[in-house]
Amino acid sequence: MPNETLTVTDNRTGLNYTLPLFRGNIRATDLRQIRTGPDDFGVMSYDPAFLNTACCQSSITYIDGDKGVLCYRGYPIEALAETCSFLEVAHLLLFGHLPEADELKDWDDKIRQHALVHENVKKFMDGFHHDAHPMGMLVSTLAALSTFYPSARHVKDPGERDLQVLRLVAKVPTIAAYAYRHSLGLPYVYPDDTLGYAENFMSMLWKRTELKYNVNPVLAKALNILFILHADHEQNCGTTAMRSVGSSLPDPYVTAAAAAAALSGPLHGGANEEVLHMLDEIGSVENIPAYIAKVKAGEFRLMGFGHRVYKNYDPRARIIKQTAEQVFAISGRNPKLDIALELEKIALEDPYFVQRKLYPNVDFYSGIIYQAMGFSTDMFTVLFAIPRMVGWLAQWQEMLEDSEQKIARPRQIYVGETQPAPVGV
Ligand code: SDX
Repeated sequence: MPNETLTVTDNRTGLNYTLPLFRGNIRATDLRQIRTGPDDFGVMSYDPAFLNTACCQSSITYIDGDKGVLCYRGYPIEALAETCSFLEVAHLLLFGHLPEADELKDWDDKIRQHALVHENVKKFMDGFHHDAHPMGMLVSTLAALSTFYPSARHVKDPGERDLQVLRLVAKVPTIAAYAYRHSLGLPYVYPDDTLGYAENFMSMLWKRTELKYNVNPVLAKALNILFILHADHEQNCGTTAMRSVGSSLPDPYVTAAAAAAALSGPLHGGANEEVLHMLDEIGSVENIPAYIAKVKAGEFRLMGFGHRVYKNYDPRARIIKQTAEQVFAISGRNPKLDIALELEKIALEDPYFVQRKLYPNVDFYSGIIYQAMGFSTDMFTVLFAIPRMVGWLAQWQEMLEDSEQKIARPRQIYVGETQPAPVGV
């Protein structure tokens, strides 16, 4: 396109500046030349919470928030959820292509080999209180893994990175299952390397005294779909933590712990747990109007609704809603779904939500399925973190391989006091 530039006039000085456009955007550092004199630092961009700031170039995930489009490496999420296993999608996100049959077998075999954790991890997890929140156990144990693999700090070594990526993808379900078993006071169940990724996770969660866990294929398929939908979502809060913490070059274990900590917040991945608390509080369809009135009065937010990027229906929520029926055919219908469906219907017709383009997001229906599958509410965000580990690691690797990236260190606008130097200094 001709003349990829902006011309800016500084009305304080009358000077004009021509700023080059990079892929249709300006580089914030190009603003620094706009100054009122030699002592002026120059113009910065001011963007609290990064509402309109790109921190990187990425080829991993594309979202069109207005159209409700989500693609991983260019493939529409609907096609991937319909035709792939989670490990195939994990391979796509991490290595940039869907695996051929031999690649998938090799990838699957390696994941199965690395699913075990060091026995001392169990001792570490035994130290948690009986009612410790599983997300707190996951975040802490991810960081603790850093002490088992000291070579992981060589993050510039591609071979070392590949090994740690393999370990984290393979071990995060094991740690999650151990946290769940600990919360129930049940013995840990070792990984079963004859089972696939989702099936093995179900075995580690729900196997009792039987010799081999009998996997329900419908629930395994539903878990695969849920894992695919949660795998990555470009520069969300947790991924931004992964990139920002990762930019100072610590090992991927403590970096992933930081990302998981960000995910645990109720405005982010913690929302799926909050949705169930909200549905419990509403209690019945008859109570919805009164609850909505309190939301509109600003007393609290409608959890599972709204999104920084989607100003249309979250495509993931649509697929989850469809998947719910398959799970309920096995588990029995979760009565909370009726409240959720009516809540969605009322909200989508209410001007307050319509004007603000608030639609159900990924968290609105996921918790209802998880609860129907038998998960306790406090496990819901852990179920988000397991697949999102793949997205965090893909984004982390992309950041490390990006020659433009360096340690993240934003600027600020100082608005504090300026005190005179103490007398005698
Ligand atoms: C995830 O970023 C990602 O990609 C995240 C995620 C991923 O895959 O990684 O998609 C996963 O985190 C999904 C979001 C889960 N969170 C929730 O469901 C919590 C409830 N939703 C919100 O708090 C909110 O919608 C956010 C945090 C998701 C987005 O908030 P924004 O973009 O900062 O929007 P905002 O707070 O500026 O709100 C704009 C307006 C405000 O009203 P006004 O001040 O203009 O009058 O919309 C209102 C808000 O009050 N609003 C809501 C609302 N969300 C926004 N009002 C009621 N209920 C809500 N849920």
